Amino acid sequence: MKVFLFLCSYVIFCKALPFEQRGFWDFSMDDGFSMMQDEGSGIAPTPTPGSDGPTLDLCPFGCHCHLRVVQCSDLGLTSIPKNLPKDTTLLDLQNNKITEIKKDDFKGLSKLYALVLVNNKISKINDKAFEPLHNLQKLYISKNNLEEIPRNLPNSLVELRIHENKIKKVSKEVFNGLKNMNCIEMGGNPLENGGIEPGAFDGLKLNYLRISEAKLTGVPKDLPSTMNELHLDNNKIQAIELEDLIQYSNLYRLGLGHNNIRVIENGSLSFMPSLRELHLDNNKLSRVPPGLPDMKFLQVVYLHSNNITQVGVNDFCPIGFGVKRAYYHGISLFNNPVPYWEVQPATFRCVTDRLAIQFGNYKK
Ligand SMILES: *[C@@H]1O[C@H](CO)[C@@H](O)[C@H](O)[C@H]1NC(C)=O
Ligand SMILES: *[C@@H]1O[C@H](CO)[C@@H](O)[C@H](O)[C@H]1NC(C)=O
Repeated sequence: MKVFLFLCSYVIFCKALPFEQRGFWDFSMDDGFSMMQDEGSGIAPTPTPGSDGPTLDLCPFGCHCHLRVVQCSDLGLTSIPKNLPKDTTLLDLQNNKITEIKKDDFKGLSKLYALVLVNNKISKINDKAFEPLHNLQKLYISKNNLEEIPRNLPNSLVELRIHENKIKKVSKEVFNGLKNMNCIEMGGNPLENGGIEPGAFDGLKLNYLRISEAKLTGVPKDLPSTMNELHLDNNKIQAIELEDLIQYSNLYRLGLGHNNIRVIENGSLSFMPSLRELHLDNNKLSRVPPGLPDMKFLQVVYLHSNNITQVGVNDFCPIGFGVKRAYYHGISLFNNPVPYWEVQPATFRCVTDRLAIQFGNYKK
């Protein structure tokens, strides 16, 4: 069943450990929900076997219920259906017109594991609405009209996807006590650095965080130090200062593409000794960032579409053998004003093979 495939792929995605490089060109992130966008047609009411009266186990009209999965997507619903089967583990309500979540909407759904509310018009959630959901692990509420992260999220939550809402503020209390939370996707919100209250992320042990397509002008200081992946692409970050990455020493992947970065301070990358993949494409860098040769595990560096005018022979690789523990698989330098014929071949002595370097001509 499609829904299960979808959830499984996200489990893997969110626990992408140990590091596994995806395709070299895989530097965009889709919103992940396109897989389910075509589910609208062919949905027919399916009565639950053995329920022929107005019992609480009746499948809501128009929904599709099978194996404790209740699918009510693309039905034009304006509110959460009543009398959802109490044993529901996955409730799919995406692509509807739901505007509000009321206090008792999820009453009794203590078995619910995944709740999909993507692409509705939700702007209001009752503070107690999620209280009955003692086992909720995945909440997908992207593409709605929320201005804040919902209060009182269940402590069982592992993954929150809340991108493309109208969130401007992350208050100090919202993530309190969420000890199991592993993955947050909150890109596409009009969030500025000042909107993240100091301590808002305290206590979270995230592995993955994405705040892309927001209004950040710098790397936020207070994010969880446990992170392996941090995606901050498509913001307005102008520089990476020395202390910016000091507490993110567990990062494997860092996405900073499509910003306005001109300067990366000497030493600022040295705080991420495990880094495998660094995306700095589509910025305004005039040189290769300092410190790359010291990054023993760095394998992929995107630097295309910057303003790099020269590449030095020791910009990527350390001097001497045995220092670099993993060779590069991918370095992109195209669309920079580098006279590439002047770059010495030895510059790439710690690259697995020539095809791993995307150089190309600078076109004006
Ligand atoms: C950064 O390091 C380079 C050499 O690696 C040096 O030329 C430059 O002056 C340094 N800049 C600062 C601000 O320390
Ligand atoms: C690129 O760098 C040159 C100097 O090396 C500078 O004159 C030019 O303004 C830069 N372009 C951009 C778009 O930053």
